[in-house]
Amino acid sequence: MHKITIAIDGYSSCGKSTTAKNVAKRLGYGYIDTGAMYRAVTLYFHQHLVTLTNQKEVIKALDNIQIEFRRNPNDGRNETYLNGLNVEDEIRKLYIANKVSEVSAIAEVRHAMVAQQRKMGKKKGVVLDGRDIGTVVFPDAELKLFMTADPIIRANRRQIELSEKGELVDIEDIIENIKNRDLIDTTRKESPLRKAEDAIDIDTSYMTLDEQVETVCLLADEALSKAIRN
Ligand code: DC
Repeated sequence: MHKITIAIDGYSSCGKSTTAKNVAKRLGYGYIDTGAMYRAVTLYFHQHLVTLTNQKEVIKALDNIQIEFRRNPNDGRNETYLNGLNVEDEIRKLYIANKVSEVSAIAEVRHAMVAQQRKMGKKKGVVLDGRDIGTVVFPDAELKLFMTADPIIRANRRQIELSEKGELVDIEDIIENIKNRDLIDTTRKESPLRKAEDAIDIDTSYMTLDEQVETVCLLADEALSKAIRN
């Protein structure tokens, strides 16, 4: 069966991951949460006190990091494993969010993650979400989307997500974190967040999750037909 690659890039907390996960489920595709990979690296660096400015330490640490996604048999959720341990909950915490943009701006970290992502997605039939999927990881993806949303709406969504996991965080701290990450993600030297020329914009500010999934599935259908024709 013909399958395509779907690349979803955009700012944090625009609904990329939830949309990507649901689209993958509907289409029977795999899902690769590339942000989770950078979060897992951040957790490892934190646990092993890696000095981010020490290139040798960073390279050595990267050699010892193995990241995989495994499906939870109880709820079907894709969960992140770092060196065989389930770190899904830990990597979503604010102390990781506060450090991840700095870690993901390191060239060696990006090279290692991009190589893994290309390996994981090489057979097509995957939805990937991140910051550089359509521009760097899979520039030939048949469908590229760029998600945006109002920063206040993004902060509210993130606050709800965190509180559902038992982490109560002040909205001002979340807005600060989002602004900071946007700034680092868009201005870093190594593959900054930017819209690929041929990506389609989706502003999710006033869209429900169902509407987002529906929109992406329709676009995926069109992209698949086009790929079959060519
Ligand atoms: O999507 P997320 O919020 O879980 O991503 C966490 C961080 O990882 C985000 O601040 C930027 C970085 N990231 C990246 O640089 N490239 C990607 N492909 C995905 C995430």
